[in-house]
Amino acid sequence: VFRCAVYPSAELQTYPYGFFEYLRESAPVYKVPGRGETYIVSRHEDIRNVARHPEFFSSATGLFADFKTGAIAQAPDQPSSPPTTSFLGTDPPEHTRRRKRAIRSFTPGRLRGLAPGVQRVADCLIDGIIARGRCDLVEEFAMPLAALVICNVLGLPPADLDHLLYFSQSEGSGRVYLSLVEQRREEKRSAEMGAYIEGHLRDRLTRPREDGLADLIERQIEEEGHADIEDLVPDATILLSGGLTTTAYMVTSALRLLLENREEMIACRSDPAVIDRTLEEALRLEAPVQWTTRRVVKRSELHGVPLPEGALLLLAYGAGNRDAGKFECPNGFDSRRPSLKEHLAFGYGPHYCLGAPLARLEGRIAIERLLGRAADIRLAPADSKRQYVRSMTMRGLEHLYVEVAPVECKTL
Ligand code: HEM
Repeated sequence: VFRCAVYPSAELQTYPYGFFEYLRESAPVYKVPGRGETYIVSRHEDIRNVARHPEFFSSATGLFADFKTGAIAQAPDQPSSPPTTSFLGTDPPEHTRRRKRAIRSFTPGRLRGLAPGVQRVADCLIDGIIARGRCDLVEEFAMPLAALVICNVLGLPPADLDHLLYFSQSEGSGRVYLSLVEQRREEKRSAEMGAYIEGHLRDRLTRPREDGLADLIERQIEEEGHADIEDLVPDATILLSGGLTTTAYMVTSALRLLLENREEMIACRSDPAVIDRTLEEALRLEAPVQWTTRRVVKRSELHGVPLPEGALLLLAYGAGNRDAGKFECPNGFDSRRPSLKEHLAFGYGPHYCLGAPLARLEGRIAIERLLGRAADIRLAPADSKRQYVRSMTMRGLEHLYVEVAPVECKTL
């Protein structure tokens, strides 16, 4: 039934896991029909091997948004021109240099300093949820939380929340699989995001302050002796867009697991380590980024399948995370499994997610506060029709409706 299936596609997006199982077992390097030289790599070990070798499998796929024009860059950047795509779409040594410049906002010390702010934002959102007694945890909790935390990290005004939520819907490299109308919409969004970030970067030149965007400029001046804002736009933009929906989907997947497994939820209330473990299982079972891409640098072969130079590989993180060769009973939720953190939801190798520590911190605080302040939280009847977001790349719940009673009131 899956022999000629096309992925990514709207049809398989609802439930890709049956197809992924077919791929892992019968076609671990699968040529996607009608998509030229595009191959899906689905086994855990193969994905890691590809991701750890940028010299053979390049991240400069040309499929990332150009934050100036909004269009997808057709060729890797010329080294002399200002970069139009973020360091996510580059290889070492350029990748190493640009990633280092961005990492300053994510050091353990910085994260410790961020925790009280994350808690304040979570509490503020929970106040509203408790007052209403019911909510959609996606739209009224996880999304605004992720966006407001990024505002905090980068130094963007919380009043811009609606802008950020609009930017957060960006499709990433899955754009090429959308209709032309949708692609134009995505181009517009990328260009607007770039212009928004550029404005905020320039503002820091005239009104200096201390925040994530100012850090990028400072680091650039240290390295190059001068500020070149145009050069920083793509990297600042990926810091803005990379952690919005991804983190929100992780949080809501984890909450869904807890709402469906009451004894785990009870365990979380007495032992916060169970929250951390649930987050890892949520990441494994429902990787928010289902796949990323690499380009074959030099003709090679994998599992007997010839890969021509320039072929596009889809690293199916969502498939690798359910590989029975790696995880026992891979489709089940087991927060005590030994290889808990070996999922691929944050990628692997040099491009391993820069924001992973922040996402984990945010997830833990969000769930700890919600469970700490709500005596009872249950799935609402409105949740019976569960839907996933319409995206070629991302996986996350569209809504998660719950009913909530505060700690003072134990009857619901
Ligand atoms: C649960 C939340 C998150 C998930 C699932 C996630 C997923 C990923 C994945 C799969 C990659 C690797 C892409 C590749 O292999 O090509 C990645 C890279 C990246 N992520 Fe995340 N991410 C999350 C949160 C965040 C946050 C909070 C931020 C920043 C605020 C962030 C910023 C980045 C950046 C900048 C990269 C590029 C790293 C590089 O190329 O060196 N992410 N992320």
